[in-house]
Amino acid sequence: MYNTMSFRPTKAVIDLTAIRKNVENLREHIAIGTEIIAVVKANAYGHGDLEVSRVALEAGASMLAVATPEEALHIRATFKEVPILILGAVPAAFVPYAAQHNITLTVFSAHWIDEVSRQYQTLEQPVKVHIKVDSGMGRIGVTIEQELQELYHAIEKTTLFELDGIFTHFATADEENPEYYEQQKTKFITMVKSLPAKPRLVHAANTAAALVKDGVEFDAVRYGISMYGLSPSAYVEKHLPFPLYPAMQVQTEVVHVKKLHKGQHVGYGATYEVEQEGEWLATLPIGYADGLVRGLQGQEVLIRGVRAEIVGRVCMDQIMVKLPFQVPVGEPVTLIGKQGDDEVTLQEWADRLQTIVYEMACLLSPRVTRIYL
Ligand SMILES: Cc1ncc(COP(=O)(O)O)c(C=O)c1O
Repeated sequence: MYNTMSFRPTKAVIDLTAIRKNVENLREHIAIGTEIIAVVKANAYGHGDLEVSRVALEAGASMLAVATPEEALHIRATFKEVPILILGAVPAAFVPYAAQHNITLTVFSAHWIDEVSRQYQTLEQPVKVHIKVDSGMGRIGVTIEQELQELYHAIEKTTLFELDGIFTHFATADEENPEYYEQQKTKFITMVKSLPAKPRLVHAANTAAALVKDGVEFDAVRYGISMYGLSPSAYVEKHLPFPLYPAMQVQTEVVHVKKLHKGQHVGYGATYEVEQEGEWLATLPIGYADGLVRGLQGQEVLIRGVRAEIVGRVCMDQIMVKLPFQVPVGEPVTLIGKQGDDEVTLQEWADRLQTIVYEMACLLSPRVTRIYL
């Protein structure tokens, strides 16, 4: 999915041992026998789906979860046997591919099952499905018991599908107030109990629920953001049961250095005016096409462990930073990660942009070469 050759010094360095530790620590935190479903959708939150899947499986995950058919097929081409669950809705046209490649689907409508049954008389093998219950997220899922019963019976009466699991997703597990979360949990338990038989795998917990809530593990937990060493929210960060190790660093090198006169301008729109005579400026080969979006103007990067501010507008492929001192071309720069005694985190980027760390990790484009440690 990434560059096969790499010349530009801009790189995301992914520490797979951090991912391994984050999975092993969860393994120890949850009850023995509870399965870990490693959530590797969106190219493993920008970290690389194949590399992360391999380490997560070695560290104890038993299933992988993705969002789309394309992501599932990409992983299946390398991992022939591991169970893969698609968390999102899929079109009926994908069902024969799911049968051929043994990919588990999420279902939430008896009508959809009937439609597929009308379109296909037989499949290479029955497709495993997990029923999605909408217990309060308001996204996909059956919302009332009658819908659930209809779906269950629609699955039972066809040989095309095999019920393997049932799950729900929490909307507020990462927040302090437990009220809405508890309502969702109660609704889910009631819905599961209403089934004539419990499917093999009942699961509800995302990272936040798995780390900071009790009694929600059921048969499996779906581990996403903290597998990558990131906290779902400030609240969860304060109550972490074990330390998290961030896996991603973003690094580059200075490609040009210049000394500017007071009053000179920098970047599109000439928005930055040099404040002091003899100010040093460096150009870095990373821009908004790499995921360093324009809103990150003013963000700092680390050069020799010292913070240097991005000045002027962020360009598509380059940024300019105000240097605290002169450095040579080729000087290493850390955009995300530790350098010296300081660290810039994806959370810092997210805070500046008033968004969440999930979005920041996904934003780093495939153009940035990933290097694996
Ligand atoms: C259905 C579902 N389960 C699990 C996850 C993983 O959540 P987290 O990354 O917070 O662990 C997601 C992520 O968005 C999801 O959509």
